[in-house]
Parts: sequence; structure tokens; C-alpha cells
Amino acid sequence: MLRERQGSGPPAAFTLKAPAKVNLFLEVMGRRSDGYHELRTLMVAVGLFDRLEFAQAPPGKLALVMNPPVADRGLKGRRNLVARAAELLRRRTGTKAGAQVTLTKRIPVSAGLGGGSSDAATALIGLNRLWQLKLSRDELDVLAAELGSDVAFFLRKPSAWCTGRGEVVEPWALGVRLHLVLVRPPFGLSTAEVYGALQLSRKRLDGSKIKSATAAGNVAAIGRHLHNRLQESALALRPELKKWLGLLAAQRPVGELLSGSGSTVFALARDAADARRIAAGVRRSLPPVSRRGANEAQVFVVRSM
Ligand code: C5P
Repeated sequence: MLRERQGSGPPAAFTLKAPAKVNLFLEVMGRRSDGYHELRTLMVAVGLFDRLEFAQAPPGKLALVMNPPVADRGLKGRRNLVARAAELLRRRTGTKAGAQVTLTKRIPVSAGLGGGSSDAATALIGLNRLWQLKLSRDELDVLAAELGSDVAFFLRKPSAWCTGRGEVVEPWALGVRLHLVLVRPPFGLSTAEVYGALQLSRKRLDGSKIKSATAAGNVAAIGRHLHNRLQESALALRPELKKWLGLLAAQRPVGELLSGSGSTVFALARDAADARRIAAGVRRSLPPVSRRGANEAQVFVVRSM
């Protein structure tokens, strides 16, 4: 059990932002005996945020308020990663403190943008502060890895080279701010299904080229070396993703790729104006059914953090 240490007065309430991420590079090195896959991935936090408001509540009470309220069961109650993060913190520290967490969602779900993982990491950071647990970043890393493969990244953002099943995080600085256009098609993808559909090939990239390109801040080279091994299996599950990648490619960005296990595809732009141009072109060419209601595709112009 981790130790709960004493400090000065606890904060009454505060808000933290939880960013989304994209993967500029993702290679699957092999399947592991624990059912996970060994990865090499370059993850970058981007300026699209969920918000978590933390407030004190009576001892024992743990309330998660979703804003806006949602029907998706995965986002509600105990299955929500924020609730799981809170319960894990309580179990490990023995704290009886209460909290009300209000989660305002903007990051699309089942999108390969890490929204749930980012919320979980932000919950660990926020509750550590609200409850004055004084857990170190290393202690939080252990809890993060239990919650999900890419939760630990969000403790060490803004950009990192991640290995293991994604939870071994080495900060990796980008030599340039990246401007991106994210397109979340009107359907999501399940990470487990995308990994399940993966045909492991013997061809593996080591990522050295994207590492040099990002370190040098060379946007054109970054565009040339974008890579995601999961794109093939996502396309096998959802062949229409090809059309969504095509919508981006038609705008002639520096490059385009699936983020993580999808379903979001993103374009790398030359600069902020180029990103706005690409987004406008994509919005104009969206199929009419994707412009409104439940079938709406979402387009975001973001930059790396
Ligand atoms: O760790 P997380 O809960 O985010 O993973 C969701 C699912 O994605 C896992 O149950 C597993 O099927 C798959 N996965 C994998 N290899 C990884 C990460 C995730 O096979 N490195």
C-alpha cells in the first residue's frame, strides 16, 4: 500500500485540462504472452481537451458527473476510467476522502485519441492533489499502467517515445510545433478489435527516421515517415476508412495517417494557415450525411502542445 502523507489545507475545488493525443508513429513488434502487443510509438499531446473539475465531497462519497450527460455505458459509473482511477487511488492509499469529479467531454470516444486514458491520468493527478496524497510521479506511473496502456503517457506529456505495451514512457521533444487536422468519422473503433484483426508481418520499422525528423523539427520529413501498423487492420475492419484518408489526402497535406487504433484520421499541415485551409477543404467535401446529427463527422484543427 502506498503511503498517505500529511500536508497543509486541502484545495476546495479546481479544474484541469486533459488533452488528446495522436500517434505519429506506431509499430507493433510482436504479440506478448499476456495478450498485449509490444509497441514502439511516438505520441504527441494535442490541443483538444476534456475538462475535469475536482471538488471536495463528504468522506466516502465519490460522485462522477458527466457533462453533457451520456447514455454510453462505458462512460458512466464504475466502468469509466475516471471512476476506476479514483477507486484504485483509494485502495492503494487507504484514503476515505470523498470527491465530486465533473467530466466535460470534448474528445471523441473510440477515436484513437486517448481521451479516456487522458481523463484517467488527469484524475490521478487531480485526486492526488485534492486528497493531498503526495504520491510521486513514479508512484502514479504504477497506477497509470494498471488503468490502461497509454495512461502513463498522459502523466509525462507533451510528447514521448513509448515502448512496452505503451506504458514505458521516454519524453521525446519535438523540434517544431505541429499543426494538424483531425477527422473523426461518424463511427468509432474498438482498440481490442483492431489489435485482434492485426496480421503480424515480419517487416518492422524501428522508428529511427521519425525520431530524427521530429528532433530536427523537419515537418516535410515527419510527413514522409508517418507510420501506423494498426492502419491496415483498422482498414480491414472498416474499409470506408480509406475514403476518410482520401478526403484528407485530396487536400495535399504533408501527410495523413490513422491515429492509434482509430477511427480518427489526421493530416499533418505545413503551418497554422495550412491546417485551416485543409480543414475548410475537408468540411466542404464531407458527404452530406456526415454533416449533421448522429452521423456527423467531427473536424478539429489542433496543434501539438
Ligand atoms: O491497455 P488498454 O486497456 O488500453 O488496451 C485495450 C486493448 O487493446 C487490450 O485489451 C488489448 O486487446 C489491446 N492492446 C494490445 N496491445 C497493446 C495495447 C492494447 O493488444 N500494447
